[in-house]
Amino acid sequence: QRISWDVQAAQKGGYKHFMLKEIFEQPRVVADCLAGRLDATHQRVCLEELAGMPVPKRLHVLACGTSYHAGLWGMHLFEDWARIPVSVEIASEFRYRNVLLDEDDAVLIISQSGETADSLACLQLVKSMGVPVIGLCNVVGSSIARESDRVVYTQAGPEISVASTKAMCSQLTLLTLMALHWGQEKGTLREADRIACIEALRQLPALLDDHLPAMREKARELSRLYADARSFLFLGRGHCCPLALEGALKLKEISYIHAEGYAAGEMKHGPIALIDPHFPTFALALDDALFPKVKSNLQEVQARNGEIIALTNEGMDLQVEHPWIIPRVWGPLGAFMALPALQLFAYETADYLGKDVDQPRNLAKSVTVE
Ligand code: G6P
Repeated sequence: QRISWDVQAAQKGGYKHFMLKEIFEQPRVVADCLAGRLDATHQRVCLEELAGMPVPKRLHVLACGTSYHAGLWGMHLFEDWARIPVSVEIASEFRYRNVLLDEDDAVLIISQSGETADSLACLQLVKSMGVPVIGLCNVVGSSIARESDRVVYTQAGPEISVASTKAMCSQLTLLTLMALHWGQEKGTLREADRIACIEALRQLPALLDDHLPAMREKARELSRLYADARSFLFLGRGHCCPLALEGALKLKEISYIHAEGYAAGEMKHGPIALIDPHFPTFALALDDALFPKVKSNLQEVQARNGEIIALTNEGMDLQVEHPWIIPRVWGPLGAFMALPALQLFAYETADYLGKDVDQPRNLAKSVTVE
């Protein structure tokens, strides 16, 4: 008897698509990114890549697409823990501005591929101004990795699906470690927070492993209810705002359903005009300091008969059509649980609609032209 198989199917390791495989690789990705970077005895971060480098006075984060969203999330951590003023910008905008940089600033370029033309152009511009550049890249030996003064590698492994999933997870892990590192160096991070964060990081791989299958089930169930939506609004505040942007990006990239990611507090300045029973909202309403604010934004949606899916935590006082309870994780690390839920919702919707999940139309994995 002949057994037929092809290389691609073998590489997918039993998963229907690379995207699904890569979403399920995230527990391992976090573990690999942490390997050798945590000092267990002293509960400290050891980021060799940044050793000996002065803590930047100001940090400019430049990136495109999903990597840009990771940068926006990282900003909250750099500001909170290391008290570094941070700006996060889209590379294609930054490169054509008459930017003002100081020599004691630093630039962080985030790029999975390390080949994105706009990000690479920013790197070259910044270097010509004498400002140190740190590259946060996944692909070893890529142009951005080679040309940066310092390179921090994310250990995500090859990402095949065009829509980025595990690479963002690896970027969030490294951004957390960098913020902890500079917080340690400057002495601005409370010891109790540092220890709690490191402990939470250590527990993440197992927690993700335990919850991903149930998350997929929930995503599948919701995708069936909303696959005919023409448009979706994703809302979040604080460190969850970048996740709302990413959730919307994932959905539009692979399902072709229009989606807008918005800062929940900004909704009243525009998108609220669109709310009706046919314009669903996907909210991030995790247990954090801004929960009461998000809740009141969602009440505004409900007052206009908008339906809501909300990622939230056990025991939160929130009445919406579809609460989606995910495990509570310390501080901003709740993002590590919310991110796969957003990815799986986009994945299940696109797959249900019969779209080409791994190769969405008009998109490229690595954009090496302007
Ligand atoms: C393309 C990809 C996205 C990616 C973006 C930035 O648009 O389709 O998934 O986020 O480029 O890529 P980079 O490799 O620089 O992170």
